[in-house]
Amino acid sequence: MNTIEPIETASVDELRALQLGRMRDVVRRAYTQVPHYTAAFDAAGVHPDDLVRLEDIAKFPLTAKEHLRQNYPYGMFAVPMEQIVRIHASSGTTGKPTVCGYTKNDIDTWSHLMARSIRAAGGRSSDKIHVAFGYGLFTGGLGAHYGGEYLGAAVIPVSGGFTERQVQIIVDFKPDIIMVTPSYMLAIADAFEQQGLTARDCSLRIGIFGAEPWGEGMRADIERRMGLQALDVYGLSEIMGPGVAQECIETKDGLTIWEDHFFPEIINPETGQVVPDGEHGELVITTLTKEGMPLIRYRTRDLTRLLPGTARTMRRIDRIGGRSDDMLIIRGVNVFPSNIESVLAREENLSPHYLLELRRPGNLDELDVLVETKAALAGKLRGADLAALERRAEHAIKVFAGVTTKVRVVEPGTLERSQGKAKRVLDLRPKD
Ligand code: DLL
Repeated sequence: MNTIEPIETASVDELRALQLGRMRDVVRRAYTQVPHYTAAFDAAGVHPDDLVRLEDIAKFPLTAKEHLRQNYPYGMFAVPMEQIVRIHASSGTTGKPTVCGYTKNDIDTWSHLMARSIRAAGGRSSDKIHVAFGYGLFTGGLGAHYGGEYLGAAVIPVSGGFTERQVQIIVDFKPDIIMVTPSYMLAIADAFEQQGLTARDCSLRIGIFGAEPWGEGMRADIERRMGLQALDVYGLSEIMGPGVAQECIETKDGLTIWEDHFFPEIINPETGQVVPDGEHGELVITTLTKEGMPLIRYRTRDLTRLLPGTARTMRRIDRIGGRSDDMLIIRGVNVFPSNIESVLAREENLSPHYLLELRRPGNLDELDVLVETKAALAGKLRGADLAALERRAEHAIKVFAGVTTKVRVVEPGTLERSQGKAKRVLDLRPKD
C-alpha cells in the first residue's frame, strides 16, 4: 500500500469501462434486493436494462435521506442480516438516525480506500497515526482506524475528547499523522500552546481533517501552529464513511473522489437536473461496489463541483462549501457559515473560533457573529480598538459575503470548543 495503485492513474477509458460494469451490477442488485428500489424504479418507468452507458444513470430516480428514514432501521439493506458484520448510524439534526450496514467485503473496501486516502495524503506504513475522530456509531474513528491498520501504520486509537491527554499523546508518543475534525484540531492546538509548546515541539508531519466544512484560512492557521501539512478528507456514513474522497499531497487542490467505487454527479438542487462538470451544485453519489447498503444516486446535500483529475486520473470535488440545509437566509441573502469563516480568516487579529447567533427580534432575521481574538491578544483589545476591529469585520462580511451582521469580538477561550463536529450556528429564532 505504499505505492499508488494502478487504477488511480489508469486511462479514463479504462476507468469508465470499470465503472459501467460495476454500475450495471449495482443497479440490478438494488432493484432485485431492495423493495424501495423495486418500487422507485417501477414508478419512474426505468429498468436496470436501460443502463447502457454511464450517462443513463440520470434516468434513474434520486435517493434522499428521507427514503432511508422511511425504511428505518434496516429496510435499505440488500443482503440478509447474516451477512452484515457492522452497523453505523448518523445522528442527523432532526428525526431518526440513518442506519448503515456493512458486509465483510464492504469493511475491506472501506479499509482499503481509507488506506489509499492516508497514502494519498503522504502517509506510509512506517508512520504512527493518532486517531482523534470519535469512535462509535460515527464512522470517523473506526474508518480511520481500519484504514491506518490496512496501510500497515501504527494506529493510536485516542478517540475524541480529553484534550489535555491528546496533547500528552502527541508529546510522548510522537505520532507522524493526526486524523481529527479541523475544529477539534484547533482546540488541541490551543491546549498545546497553553503548555508553552510550539510547532517545533510537534512531531506531526501530516494532518488529515474532515467531517465538517473548513477553509483555506483554517488550513494555514493549523499548518503554521502545528508545523504540518493539512489535507482534506471527505465522506458520509450513508455512502461508506471517511475516505470517499481525499486531497492528494502532491497538489493540495481539492479532493480526488475514488471513482472506481463511487460515481459522482452534480445536480441543480432545485430541479434535480444534472449539470456539467465544473458547475456548482449538489453532489449525488452512486455506490459502485457496496453490498450491504448500495445507494443509487444518493443526494448528499453537499455543495461542490466536479473538477478534472490532476494528481490522479479520477475527478476531484472542490472543497465542500456547505450543505444545502446549512444555508442561512438573512433578509433575503443566502449565506453559508463557511462564507463568513473565510472573511474572518483574512483578519490577522481574529482566531478561527467563531459562532453565528441567529435571532428574530421583530419580523427580520438578525445575525450576530461571535469571534475570538488570537490567543496572543488576550486581555489586550479594549474600547476603541475593539470597536474598530468589530466594524472592520462587519464591513468585510458585508462586502464579501453580502450580508449585514453584528460582529462581537470576544476573548480567547470564550466560545465552547467542539470535540467532534463544530456547531457553528445557534438558532435563537422563535420556533413557529
Ligand atoms: O462525517 C464521515 C467522515 C468522518 C468524513 C471523518 C471525514 C472524516 P457523517 O457523520 O455521516 O459522516 O457526516 C457526513 O459531513 O455529508 C458533509 O456535510 C460533512 N463532511 C464530511 N467531510 C467533509 C469535508 C462523516 N471534508 C457529512 N468537508 C457530509 C466538508 C464534510 N464537509
